[in-house]
Amino acid sequence: MSTPAVSPVERLLVVGSGIMGSGIATVAVARGIPTLLYDVKDVFLDKGVAVVEKNLGRMVEKGQMTPEARASARERLRPTLMLEDAAGADLVMEAAPENLAVKKELFRTLEGIVPPTALLGTNTSSLSITSIASTVRDPGRVAGIHFFNPVPAMELVELIAGVHTRPDVLARARAFAEFLGKTVTSSKDFPGFVTTRSIGVLINEAAWMLYEGVASREDIDTAHRLGFHHPMGPLALADLVGIDTALAILERLYTGFRDPKYRACPLIVQMVEAGKLGRKTGEGFYSYGK
Ligand SMILES: NC(=O)c1ccc[n+]([C@@H]2O[C@H](COP(=O)([O-])OP(=O)(O)OC[C@H]3O[C@@H](n4cnc5c(N)ncnc54)[C@H](O)[C@@H]3O)[C@@H](O)[C@H]2O)c1
Repeated sequence: MSTPAVSPVERLLVVGSGIMGSGIATVAVARGIPTLLYDVKDVFLDKGVAVVEKNLGRMVEKGQMTPEARASARERLRPTLMLEDAAGADLVMEAAPENLAVKKELFRTLEGIVPPTALLGTNTSSLSITSIASTVRDPGRVAGIHFFNPVPAMELVELIAGVHTRPDVLARARAFAEFLGKTVTSSKDFPGFVTTRSIGVLINEAAWMLYEGVASREDIDTAHRLGFHHPMGPLALADLVGIDTALAILERLYTGFRDPKYRACPLIVQMVEAGKLGRKTGEGFYSYGK
Protein backbone atom coordinates (compact mmCIF):
# COMPACT_ATOMS: atom_id res chain seq x y z
CA MET A 1 0.00 0.00 0.00
CA SER A 2 1.38 3.44 -0.86
CA THR A 3 1.13 6.00 1.92
CA PRO A 4 0.80 9.76 1.37
CA ALA A 5 4.02 11.78 1.64
CA VAL A 6 2.55 14.58 3.72
CA SER A 7 1.48 13.82 7.26
CA PRO A 8 -2.19 14.45 8.03
CA VAL A 9 -1.12 15.11 11.64
CA GLU A 10 1.25 17.90 12.67
CA ARG A 11 1.49 17.26 16.38
CA LEU A 12 0.34 14.08 18.07
CA LEU A 13 -0.47 13.59 21.72
CA VAL A 14 -0.35 10.01 23.02
CA VAL A 15 -1.99 9.65 26.42
CA GLY A 16 -0.63 6.71 28.42
CA SER A 17 2.84 5.31 27.77
CA GLY A 18 2.06 1.64 28.41
CA ILE A 19 2.07 -1.23 25.93
CA MET A 20 -0.13 0.48 23.34
CA GLY A 21 0.85 4.12 23.90
CA SER A 22 4.56 3.36 23.50
CA GLY A 23 3.81 1.33 20.36
CA ILE A 24 1.74 4.12 18.81
CA ALA A 25 4.40 6.70 19.71
CA THR A 26 7.03 4.49 18.05
CA VAL A 27 5.28 4.27 14.69
CA ALA A 28 4.38 7.97 14.79
CA VAL A 29 7.91 9.28 15.41
CA ALA A 30 9.34 6.75 12.95
CA ARG A 31 6.99 8.19 10.31
CA GLY A 32 8.04 11.76 11.11
CA ILE A 33 5.25 12.98 13.39
CA PRO A 34 6.32 15.12 16.39
CA THR A 35 4.79 13.27 19.34
CA LEU A 36 4.13 14.21 22.91
CA LEU A 37 3.92 11.16 25.19
CA TYR A 38 2.04 11.71 28.43
CA ASP A 39 1.74 9.55 31.53
CA VAL A 40 0.82 10.14 35.14
CA LYS A 41 4.11 9.17 36.80
CA ASP A 42 7.72 9.39 35.67
CA VAL A 43 8.35 5.68 36.29
CA PHE A 44 5.66 4.82 33.72
CA LEU A 45 6.82 7.53 31.36
CA ASP A 46 10.47 6.42 31.56
CA LYS A 47 9.38 2.86 30.82
CA GLY A 48 7.38 4.01 27.79
CA VAL A 49 10.29 6.05 26.43
CA ALA A 50 12.62 3.06 26.91
CA VAL A 51 10.20 0.89 24.89
CA VAL A 52 10.07 3.46 22.07
CA GLU A 53 13.88 3.56 22.01
CA LYS A 54 14.08 -0.23 21.97
CA ASN A 55 11.51 -0.45 19.18
CA LEU A 56 13.39 2.11 17.08
CA GLY A 57 16.63 0.19 17.70
CA ARG A 58 14.94 -2.96 16.43
CA MET A 59 13.86 -1.14 13.27
CA VAL A 60 17.52 -0.26 12.63
CA GLU A 61 18.56 -3.89 13.22
CA LYS A 62 15.94 -5.08 10.74
CA GLY A 63 17.16 -2.58 8.15
CA GLN A 64 13.86 -0.68 8.22
CA MET A 65 15.56 2.53 9.31
CA THR A 66 19.04 4.06 9.27
CA PRO A 67 20.78 4.99 12.55
CA GLU A 68 20.47 8.66 11.50
CA ALA A 69 16.71 8.30 10.95
CA ARG A 70 16.46 6.60 14.33
CA ALA A 71 18.16 9.58 16.02
CA SER A 72 15.75 12.00 14.28
CA ALA A 73 12.78 9.84 15.27
CA ARG A 74 13.90 9.86 18.90
CA GLU A 75 14.18 13.66 18.79
CA ARG A 76 10.56 13.87 17.71
CA LEU A 77 9.45 12.17 20.93
CA ARG A 78 8.77 14.50 23.82
CA PRO A 79 7.79 12.83 27.09
CA THR A 80 5.75 14.86 29.56
CA LEU A 81 3.90 14.62 32.86
CA MET A 82 1.97 17.81 32.08
CA LEU A 83 -1.13 17.38 29.95
CA GLU A 84 -1.14 21.17 29.46
CA ASP A 85 1.91 20.73 27.18
CA ALA A 86 -0.54 19.33 24.60
CA ALA A 87 -2.09 22.71 23.78
CA GLY A 88 -0.83 22.47 20.17
CA ALA A 89 -1.85 18.87 19.42
CA ASP A 90 -4.10 18.30 16.41
CA LEU A 91 -4.70 14.61 17.11
CA VAL A 92 -4.95 12.81 20.45
CA MET A 93 -4.51 9.07 20.81
CA GLU A 94 -5.73 8.03 24.23
CA ALA A 95 -4.18 4.74 25.39
CA ALA A 96 -4.90 4.92 29.12
CA PRO A 97 -6.19 1.86 31.03
CA GLU A 98 -9.41 0.21 29.88
CA ASN A 99 -11.63 1.96 32.42
CA LEU A 100 -14.61 4.03 31.33
CA ALA A 101 -14.44 6.48 34.25
CA VAL A 102 -10.71 7.13 33.65
CA LYS A 103 -11.24 7.69 29.92
CA LYS A 104 -14.24 9.99 30.44
CA GLU A 105 -12.32 12.09 32.92
CA LEU A 106 -9.38 12.32 30.54
CA PHE A 107 -11.52 13.40 27.59
CA ARG A 108 -13.19 16.06 29.72
CA THR A 109 -9.78 17.42 30.70
CA LEU A 110 -8.32 17.15 27.20
CA GLU A 111 -11.20 19.12 25.73
CA GLY A 112 -10.08 22.13 27.76
CA ILE A 113 -6.45 21.82 26.61
CA VAL A 114 -6.22 20.86 22.92
CA PRO A 115 -7.61 23.12 20.14
CA PRO A 116 -11.34 22.66 19.37
CA THR A 117 -10.40 21.31 15.95
CA ALA A 118 -8.22 18.50 17.36
CA LEU A 119 -9.41 14.97 16.76
CA LEU A 120 -9.88 12.93 19.93
CA GLY A 121 -9.09 9.25 19.33
CA THR A 122 -9.35 6.41 21.79
CA ASN A 123 -7.59 3.07 21.55
CA THR A 124 -10.21 1.28 23.64
CA SER A 125 -10.74 -2.32 22.62
CA SER A 126 -14.17 -2.76 24.16
CA LEU A 127 -15.66 0.37 25.72
CA SER A 128 -18.38 2.42 24.06
CA ILE A 129 -16.98 5.25 21.93
CA THR A 130 -20.35 6.97 22.21
CA SER A 131 -20.20 6.84 25.99
CA ILE A 132 -16.61 8.16 26.14
CA ALA A 133 -17.61 10.95 23.71
CA SER A 134 -20.65 11.88 25.79
CA THR A 135 -18.42 13.80 28.22
CA VAL A 136 -17.20 16.35 25.66
CA ARG A 137 -19.16 19.30 24.27
CA ASP A 138 -18.56 18.18 20.68
CA PRO A 139 -18.86 14.36 20.64
CA GLY A 140 -18.57 14.46 16.85
CA ARG A 141 -14.79 14.88 17.17
CA VAL A 142 -14.30 11.57 18.99
CA ALA A 143 -13.46 8.32 17.17
CA GLY A 144 -12.25 4.86 18.09
CA ILE A 145 -8.83 4.27 16.53
CA HIS A 146 -8.05 0.74 17.63
CA PHE A 147 -4.42 -0.30 17.11
CA PHE A 148 -3.25 -3.86 17.77
CA ASN A 149 -0.41 -5.22 19.86
CA PRO A 150 2.50 -5.05 19.04
CA VAL A 151 1.73 -1.81 17.19
CA PRO A 152 4.90 -1.67 15.03
CA ALA A 153 4.22 -5.20 13.69
CA MET A 154 0.43 -5.39 13.45
CA GLU A 155 -1.09 -4.16 10.22
CA LEU A 156 -4.65 -3.53 11.31
CA VAL A 157 -6.35 -0.44 12.68
CA GLU A 158 -10.05 -0.82 13.43
CA LEU A 159 -11.82 2.50 13.03
CA ILE A 160 -14.96 2.85 15.13
CA ALA A 161 -17.63 5.46 14.58
CA GLY A 162 -19.55 6.50 17.66
CA VAL A 163 -23.15 7.57 17.21
CA HIS A 164 -22.08 11.22 16.86
CA THR A 165 -18.70 10.83 15.11
CA ARG A 166 -18.56 13.07 12.05
CA PRO A 167 -17.52 11.71 8.62
CA ASP A 168 -14.68 14.26 8.33
CA VAL A 169 -13.32 13.06 11.69
CA LEU A 170 -13.41 9.45 10.49
CA ALA A 171 -11.66 10.49 7.27
CA ARG A 172 -8.89 12.19 9.27
CA ALA A 173 -8.51 9.20 11.57
CA ARG A 174 -8.25 6.92 8.54
CA ALA A 175 -5.65 9.17 6.91
CA PHE A 176 -3.61 9.11 10.14
CA ALA A 177 -3.67 5.30 10.38
CA GLU A 178 -2.87 4.86 6.69
CA PHE A 179 -0.02 7.35 6.97
CA LEU A 180 1.41 5.02 9.62
CA GLY A 181 1.24 2.20 7.07
CA LYS A 182 -1.79 0.47 8.57
CA THR A 183 -4.79 -1.08 6.84
CA VAL A 184 -8.08 0.24 8.16
CA THR A 185 -11.35 -1.59 8.68
CA SER A 186 -14.49 0.21 9.86
CA SER A 187 -16.98 -0.77 12.51
CA LYS A 188 -20.00 0.73 14.17
CA ASP A 189 -20.00 1.27 17.89
CA PHE A 190 -21.51 -1.95 19.24
CA PRO A 191 -19.91 -3.95 22.07
CA GLY A 192 -16.55 -5.38 21.07
CA PHE A 193 -16.77 -3.87 17.56
CA VAL A 194 -15.65 -6.66 15.17
CA THR A 195 -12.32 -7.84 16.51
CA THR A 196 -12.85 -7.88 20.26
CA ARG A 197 -16.26 -9.52 19.89
CA SER A 198 -14.81 -12.29 17.73
CA ILE A 199 -11.84 -12.97 19.96
CA GLY A 200 -14.03 -12.94 23.09
CA VAL A 201 -16.34 -15.55 21.64
CA LEU A 202 -13.47 -17.70 20.37
CA ILE A 203 -11.66 -17.75 23.72
CA ASN A 204 -14.91 -18.41 25.59
CA GLU A 205 -15.89 -21.31 23.32
CA ALA A 206 -12.43 -22.85 23.70
CA ALA A 207 -12.76 -22.57 27.50
CA TRP A 208 -16.23 -24.17 27.36
CA MET A 209 -14.83 -27.11 25.33
CA LEU A 210 -12.08 -27.61 27.90
CA TYR A 211 -14.60 -27.30 30.77
CA GLU A 212 -16.96 -29.83 29.15
CA GLY A 213 -14.11 -32.26 28.50
CA VAL A 214 -14.58 -32.17 24.74
CA ALA A 215 -10.81 -32.02 24.22
CA SER A 216 -7.54 -31.28 26.04
CA ARG A 217 -6.07 -27.76 26.04
CA GLU A 218 -3.29 -28.94 23.71
CA ASP A 219 -5.76 -30.48 21.25
CA ILE A 220 -8.01 -27.42 21.28
CA ASP A 221 -5.08 -25.13 20.54
CA THR A 222 -3.43 -27.44 17.98
CA ALA A 223 -6.75 -27.79 16.15
CA HIS A 224 -6.95 -24.02 15.74
CA ARG A 225 -3.31 -23.62 14.75
CA LEU A 226 -3.21 -26.38 12.17
CA GLY A 227 -6.83 -26.41 11.10
CA PHE A 228 -7.28 -22.66 10.68
CA HIS A 229 -3.68 -21.42 10.47
CA HIS A 230 -4.14 -19.34 13.62
CA PRO A 231 -0.67 -18.33 14.84
CA MET A 232 -1.61 -19.56 18.32
CA GLY A 233 -4.52 -21.46 19.82
CA PRO A 234 -7.28 -19.60 21.70
CA LEU A 235 -6.24 -20.87 25.14
CA ALA A 236 -2.62 -19.82 24.64
CA LEU A 237 -3.94 -16.52 23.30
CA ALA A 238 -6.11 -16.07 26.40
CA ASP A 239 -3.00 -16.55 28.55
CA LEU A 240 -1.23 -13.88 26.51
CA VAL A 241 -4.11 -11.39 26.60
CA GLY A 242 -4.80 -12.07 30.30
CA ILE A 243 -7.67 -14.17 31.64
CA ASP A 244 -8.97 -11.13 33.54
CA THR A 245 -9.04 -9.11 30.31
CA ALA A 246 -10.83 -11.98 28.54
CA LEU A 247 -13.44 -12.03 31.32
CA ALA A 248 -13.88 -8.23 31.15
CA ILE A 249 -14.48 -8.51 27.39
CA LEU A 250 -17.09 -11.23 27.89
CA GLU A 251 -18.84 -9.21 30.57
CA ARG A 252 -18.93 -6.21 28.26
CA LEU A 253 -20.46 -8.36 25.49
CA TYR A 254 -22.90 -10.06 27.88
CA THR A 255 -24.21 -6.85 29.40
CA GLY A 256 -23.93 -4.83 26.20
CA PHE A 257 -26.01 -7.21 24.09
CA ARG A 258 -28.03 -8.65 27.01
CA ASP A 259 -27.54 -11.96 25.28
CA PRO A 260 -26.76 -15.21 27.17
CA LYS A 261 -24.62 -16.44 24.28
CA TYR A 262 -21.81 -14.29 25.72
CA ARG A 263 -22.05 -15.84 29.20
CA ALA A 264 -18.48 -16.41 30.41
CA CYS A 265 -17.46 -20.02 30.95
CA PRO A 266 -17.32 -20.75 34.72
CA LEU A 267 -13.75 -21.94 34.26
CA ILE A 268 -12.70 -18.43 33.18
CA VAL A 269 -14.49 -16.90 36.18
CA GLN A 270 -12.85 -19.39 38.54
CA MET A 271 -9.38 -18.80 37.08
CA VAL A 272 -9.74 -15.06 37.69
CA GLU A 273 -10.88 -15.73 41.28
CA ALA A 274 -7.80 -17.94 41.75
CA GLY A 275 -5.43 -15.31 40.32
CA LYS A 276 -4.53 -17.56 37.38
CA LEU A 277 -4.43 -14.70 34.90
CA GLY A 278 -2.13 -16.22 32.28
CA ARG A 279 1.42 -15.27 31.41
CA LYS A 280 1.49 -12.25 33.69
CA THR A 281 0.99 -14.39 36.81
CA GLY A 282 2.91 -17.40 35.48
CA GLU A 283 -0.19 -19.60 35.42
CA GLY A 284 -3.26 -19.67 33.21
CA PHE A 285 -4.45 -22.42 30.90
CA TYR A 286 -0.72 -23.28 30.76
CA SER A 287 2.14 -22.84 33.26
CA TYR A 288 4.97 -20.46 32.54
CA GLY A 289 7.43 -21.54 35.21
CA LYS A 290 7.70 -18.35 37.26
N1 LIG B 1 -2.58 -4.41 25.38
C1 LIG B 1 -3.24 -4.75 24.29
O1 LIG B 1 -3.00 -5.83 23.71
C2 LIG B 1 -4.26 -3.84 23.69
C3 LIG B 1 -4.64 -4.01 22.36
C4 LIG B 1 -5.56 -3.12 21.78
C5 LIG B 1 -6.12 -2.11 22.56
N2 LIG B 1 -5.75 -1.97 23.87
C6 LIG B 1 -6.34 -0.85 24.63
O2 LIG B 1 -5.37 0.19 24.70
C7 LIG B 1 -5.52 0.91 25.94
C8 LIG B 1 -4.21 0.88 26.69
O3 LIG B 1 -3.88 -0.47 26.96
P1 LIG B 1 -2.40 -0.91 27.37
O4 LIG B 1 -2.35 -2.39 27.21
O5 LIG B 1 -1.39 -0.06 26.68
O6 LIG B 1 -2.40 -0.56 28.92
P2 LIG B 1 -1.14 -0.36 29.89
O7 LIG B 1 -1.63 -0.68 31.25
O8 LIG B 1 0.05 -1.06 29.35
O9 LIG B 1 -0.85 1.21 29.76
C9 LIG B 1 -1.70 2.20 30.26
C10 LIG B 1 -0.85 3.39 30.65
O10 LIG B 1 -1.73 4.45 31.02
C11 LIG B 1 -1.20 5.08 32.17
N3 LIG B 1 -2.26 5.77 32.88
C12 LIG B 1 -2.95 5.39 33.98
N4 LIG B 1 -3.86 6.33 34.31
C13 LIG B 1 -3.73 7.32 33.40
C14 LIG B 1 -4.36 8.58 33.23
N5 LIG B 1 -5.31 8.99 34.03
N6 LIG B 1 -3.94 9.34 32.22
C15 LIG B 1 -2.97 8.92 31.38
N7 LIG B 1 -2.35 7.76 31.49
C16 LIG B 1 -2.71 6.97 32.49
C17 LIG B 1 -0.53 4.00 32.96
O11 LIG B 1 0.45 4.54 33.83
C18 LIG B 1 0.07 3.14 31.84
O12 LIG B 1 1.37 3.54 31.51
C19 LIG B 1 -6.69 0.24 26.67
O13 LIG B 1 -7.86 0.94 26.40
C20 LIG B 1 -6.72 -1.16 26.06
O14 LIG B 1 -8.00 -1.76 26.11
C21 LIG B 1 -4.83 -2.79 24.45
